[in-house]
Amino acid sequence: MKQSDIAMVGLAVMGENLALNMESKGFTVTVYNRAHTDRPSVVGRFMNGRGKGKNFFGTESIDELVSSLSRPRKVMLMIKAGQAVDAVINELLPYLSPGDVIIDGGNSDFHDTERRVKEVESKGLYYIGTGVSGGELGALHGPSIMPGGSPEAWPLVRDILQAIAAKLEDGSPCCEWIGRGGAGHFVKTVHNGIEYGDMQLIAEAYSLLKNRMGLGNEEMAQVFAEWNKGELNSYLIDITSQILRFRDEDGSFLLDKIRDVAGQKGTGKWAVGTALDEDDPLTLITEAVYARMLSALFEERKLASDLYGNSGNLKNEFDKDELRQALYAAKIVSYTQGFSLMQRASKRYEWDLDLGTIARIWRNGCIIRSIFLQRITAAFKEHSQLENLLFDDFFFGKIQSSQVVWRKVVAEAIRAGVAIPAMSSGLSYFDGLRTLYSPANLIQAQRDYFGAHTYERTDRAVGTFFHTDWTGQGGDTTSGTYSV
Ligand code: 6PG
Repeated sequence: MKQSDIAMVGLAVMGENLALNMESKGFTVTVYNRAHTDRPSVVGRFMNGRGKGKNFFGTESIDELVSSLSRPRKVMLMIKAGQAVDAVINELLPYLSPGDVIIDGGNSDFHDTERRVKEVESKGLYYIGTGVSGGELGALHGPSIMPGGSPEAWPLVRDILQAIAAKLEDGSPCCEWIGRGGAGHFVKTVHNGIEYGDMQLIAEAYSLLKNRMGLGNEEMAQVFAEWNKGELNSYLIDITSQILRFRDEDGSFLLDKIRDVAGQKGTGKWAVGTALDEDDPLTLITEAVYARMLSALFEERKLASDLYGNSGNLKNEFDKDELRQALYAAKIVSYTQGFSLMQRASKRYEWDLDLGTIARIWRNGCIIRSIFLQRITAAFKEHSQLENLLFDDFFFGKIQSSQVVWRKVVAEAIRAGVAIPAMSSGLSYFDGLRTLYSPANLIQAQRDYFGAHTYERTDRAVGTFFHTDWTGQGGDTTSGTYSV
């Protein structure tokens, strides 16, 4: 009997579609689902449904699953992140042999993946934690795939993962090796943070088009469709246009009936948490996460709205194209911050991330796919050690040419009382970054005043710390410099 090339554990939306994608590329796939006690089982339904007549091997036990695979065995998990992943790994390990590979394709926390790589490798097996982006249709037709973990496993799974990945115009796959340990899942976490940033910026533009410029849904759909033809061309701008014109069964716009309370599964928060761990100012994405949290405080928002109402109706002073430029400039800052975070974490974890390649494999298949990413690949191609994307010539030119209108849009929105946390925090980051003499000297003085935390002087060598007895009543003991 021909043995399967790979097993898929977990037949929910993503697992089922990835398995179908693999089979359609000529691989034989064993399928297994843990919740197999219902009758007909999930596997049974799949084998008689979407999997019927195809090269699938349905199994109802781990033993059966493992025996169906050719060696070295490859088992991919598409299950809920967290404890379930550890549970399945522990179920699999007694049946697998050294050299076999376990692949986790869920949105796992990269710290967990770091740990799992070590645990699985200590048993002589290999482990891959991979980001998979593109949602349901991406999984079926070609997602962007970000694998990391045991480098020895990459040659063993490369053909399968690159075959099912989305492709660029030149045929190259949106799947490349990211790095050791948790690198793949870390990069997926940053992808999701950037996804939050993009979505929030688009939502803010929608809010301004609707509330400041008074456009109707059809008109707004037209604006986003127009923007999608230019430098903002991206999946998220495209679907925004389609969402705006989508009608409910009664003919009215569905969007207008959707409650304005945003959900989240947690990867945006992880991106922010990682940025805090790395001392990295990921301000725009952080505001995007907070904006979802604020949207969820529905009762409080209602009370505040009753209490404070609208803040007047000033005349709107910017036009659609100026808004487009402001959105683009803020998007540059969002990606600048996301890529800086990857650079910092790459140094700390010694992942040696290739940022140009990461931008390339995000150009198709994933949720943040866009032509914009091409520019980022080009920037890193020119200077692989670029500290900050804002130092690249192309992005420098873009920021310079849109700075004035970006400020105008942000100022107008703030004057009119429209919340634009992402667009404005992006601008504040930019202003903070280009400020040579920041007010942090005062913060240092305050810290030293009340807590003897010491400071450095501009007229002395960096790295030498001083303390002043500001009140004449302090002692000469200092608190030293350290971070908790
Ligand atoms: C992707 C997405 C996906 C994510 C959902 C939901 O790349 O395909 O990032 O992995 O889980 O978009 O995310 P939230 O529920 O946190 O919005």
